[in-house]
Amino acid sequence: MRVLSGIQPSGKLHIGNFFGAMRQHLQLQAENEGFYFIADYHAMTSTPSPEDLRQRCLDVTMDYLALGLDTKRTVFWRQSDVPEVTELSWILSCVTPMGLLQRCTSYKDKVDQGLSANHGLFAYPVLQAADILIYHSNLVPVGADQKQHIEVTRDIAMKFNAQFGETLTIPKDYILESVAVVPGLDGRKMSKSYGNTIEIFEPESSVKNKIMKMVTDSTPVEDPKDPDKCNIFALLKLAASPDEIKEWEDKYRKGGTGYGTVKKRAAELLLNFFRPYREKRAQLEKDRDAVLQVLDDGGKRARAVARKTMEAVRQVTGLGF
Ligand code: ADP
Ligand code: TRP
Repeated sequence: MRVLSGIQPSGKLHIGNFFGAMRQHLQLQAENEGFYFIADYHAMTSTPSPEDLRQRCLDVTMDYLALGLDTKRTVFWRQSDVPEVTELSWILSCVTPMGLLQRCTSYKDKVDQGLSANHGLFAYPVLQAADILIYHSNLVPVGADQKQHIEVTRDIAMKFNAQFGETLTIPKDYILESVAVVPGLDGRKMSKSYGNTIEIFEPESSVKNKIMKMVTDSTPVEDPKDPDKCNIFALLKLAASPDEIKEWEDKYRKGGTGYGTVKKRAAELLLNFFRPYREKRAQLEKDRDAVLQVLDDGGKRARAVARKTMEAVRQVTGLGF
């Protein structure tokens, strides 16, 4: 089964990204053919500076490598190293009804967030469809917010196949809902755009300080508390064993446990969880060439697959002789 996903180059990844997406990507690579790429063409819709775009791609790559991306099995590359995807995107645009894109909610959401209303942002789902279809992907693991884009991809692929004959593989989505939303420092969803994140590899002392300062309610220490309504408990749960989770649940319900104690343990558990990968991350930081080499190799492997699809697409559409 070919599993493909695109990762926005948003810079150093945070623990919400890890528990909500990366961990599943890394697990899926064991029993599938993993195809993961950094969506740098897509990132241009938010007009980052050239320096930022480059640095963010490197950071995402180093985070994935440090956490166990297996480059022997898994193909990992930068979207723009396979420019064929933009050709397919154009061809798909010509079978994509305007109404399909007008119904996509992400364009409006992003414009409401302050992104400029450019055509790239509007056509974003078509490029995403090309990403998925050019590699004949079977499964696309994404967060629930991306479900609509996978449906659009399926619609576009079916339209193409109906018009030109069975050429493109119809993918399935695989919604990553197994993990609850990871709360950020202010209690809202942890997100780069809210500035409330804990980066996976930020210095240990900083992780500790951030967690110790997290917002909680003001229930007195001696009172019983509801673990399911507590952000600190939600963090602790990510890295604690089932037995330990149960113990803390009991402590919450009984009363007598202060948030400070839970914060300390949550910080310790999260730091222990990521500690084995820190050294590898630090090594990669010092070896930019090795990181670029990984992207280069991945780009070549991905491009070979994409070129083959494009030969078929060019033939069936009449672009190829
Ligand atoms: P951000 O909100 O920081 O910009 P993205 O939207 O780029 O993060 O998210 C990338 C992936 O990480 C998505 O698949 C998303 O579902 C997952 N993710 C991001 N933040 C969280 C979170 N707080 N909890 C769970 N998953 C998350
Ligand atoms: N749109 C996805 C996001 O914002 C990133 C992405 C681009 C993607 N192309 C993709 C995801 C193809 C899955 C498949 O997170």
